[in-house]
Amino acid sequence: MTPEQASAQSEDICRLAPVIPVLVVKDASSAADLARALVKGGLPALEVTLRTDAALDVIREMSTVEGGVVGAGTLLTPADVQAAKDAGAKFGVSPGATDRIIDACLEADLPLLPGAATASEAMYLLERGFTVQKFFPAEANGGAPALKSLASPLPQIRFCPTGGVSLKNAPDYLSLPNTLCVGGSWVAPGNLVDAGDWSAITALAAEAAALPR
Ligand code: 3PG
Repeated sequence: MTPEQASAQSEDICRLAPVIPVLVVKDASSAADLARALVKGGLPALEVTLRTDAALDVIREMSTVEGGVVGAGTLLTPADVQAAKDAGAKFGVSPGATDRIIDACLEADLPLLPGAATASEAMYLLERGFTVQKFFPAEANGGAPALKSLASPLPQIRFCPTGGVSLKNAPDYLSLPNTLCVGGSWVAPGNLVDAGDWSAITALAAEAAALPR
């Protein structure tokens, strides 16, 4: 696919809901229940980070859940991209971006949401045709005021800020003209996942899904 197609598809995914849950799941046997809980709460786009041994199985399990759009996060190598694609990921997310990751995703027809932390990184991605980017790590990089400052010189770039985003500060980002949605792990806390408290996770998802933007 072209970078323009990747950006258009990333934008569609980012517009599904105000929040993309960032998931670190250790046990694939509860993955479908977790995905169902989040989708039921109104968050269909799910980022499964490739940070656990189970992550690829988690993507496979979650991909069976109706209404979900499951992507792979923490893509670091072309091998990650191929594994994510083979597991059924519909999109990819990377904390930063390299030419190898970008090219691998384009070749694999996997829409990439590439990470940028500075104006130069965002400009490089723009040169490569990516108009939808992840602002990461958002809070550590100055948070919503920093992202707002990028809107004037780089109005053609839309972002999904991620990293340190919470229910409390999400509205600061979602009110910005250059923010499509935010990413965050707070909607699926490890203790609730471990306890299998799916109704509590659905409640957190519903709260996040109701955030105005
Ligand atoms: C991550 O790296 O895990 C994501 O950026 C999510 O960050 P968060 O846990 O601060 O939401």
